[in-house]
Amino acid sequence: MATQTNQETLTVQEAIEARQSIRKFKEEQIPRTVIDQLFKMVRLAPSAWNLQPWRYHVITDPALKVKLQEAAYGQTQVTSAPAVIVLASDMEDVLHHLPETIHPGMTEEQKQTEVANLSGIFNAMTVEERGQWGLTQTNIALGFLLIAIKGLGYSSVPMLGFDQAKIKELLGISEHAKIAAMIPFGKQDSDGYPHHRFELDRIVTFH
Ligand SMILES: Cc1cc2nc3c(=O)[nH]c(=O)nc-3n(C[C@H](O)[C@H](O)[C@H](O)COP(=O)(O)O)c2cc1C
Repeated sequence: MATQTNQETLTVQEAIEARQSIRKFKEEQIPRTVIDQLFKMVRLAPSAWNLQPWRYHVITDPALKVKLQEAAYGQTQVTSAPAVIVLASDMEDVLHHLPETIHPGMTEEQKQTEVANLSGIFNAMTVEERGQWGLTQTNIALGFLLIAIKGLGYSSVPMLGFDQAKIKELLGISEHAKIAAMIPFGKQDSDGYPHHRFELDRIVTFH
């Protein structure tokens, strides 16, 4: 994995194979440079029409983590981790900034046509429908995030076991947004479970 710092990083294959859900972390804070590097990588995740509906919230405040943990039915990994990422998907925000998603190489006329086209497609959907569509894209970023965290030498656990409305209220996230996951992360202080997965013939069909 390409990096501009001298910390130890894993190859993509190593990161994928070594990633396991970790639920107990060391108290060690995560340097801001590492967090910035992480987001510089995950913002490169692909999305249809390059709409990038993902919006990341990073929580390090201990009192706020206690409240997040309560909203996550007491799951202790939330306060164990030095940092927690809440990954939200906000298609309404995307629609408000459509011109920003258009590639700068396009002519002004092409840009206007593309914005009108996208606007037509998404405004024909309900807020709920396009919210669900955005979530499918944001989950691509979640995959990138989990591997990038591991690649940078950290561990995480993706979580969906929480009260969405409470998390939105705590973080000031709009009601229409969808939360793809809460991801506590840090240096691991416990082992994960060994991988337990389907055999390839259960999940892969060759034609
Ligand atoms: C979207 C998603 C939501 C999850 N929610 C929780 C959760 O709320 N709490 C938890 O302890 N683990 C949660 N997990 C972790 C899974 O249990 C774990 O990824 C799975 O058992 C495979 O184990 P591994 O991640 O160690 O490979 C979640 C995983 C995903 C991908």
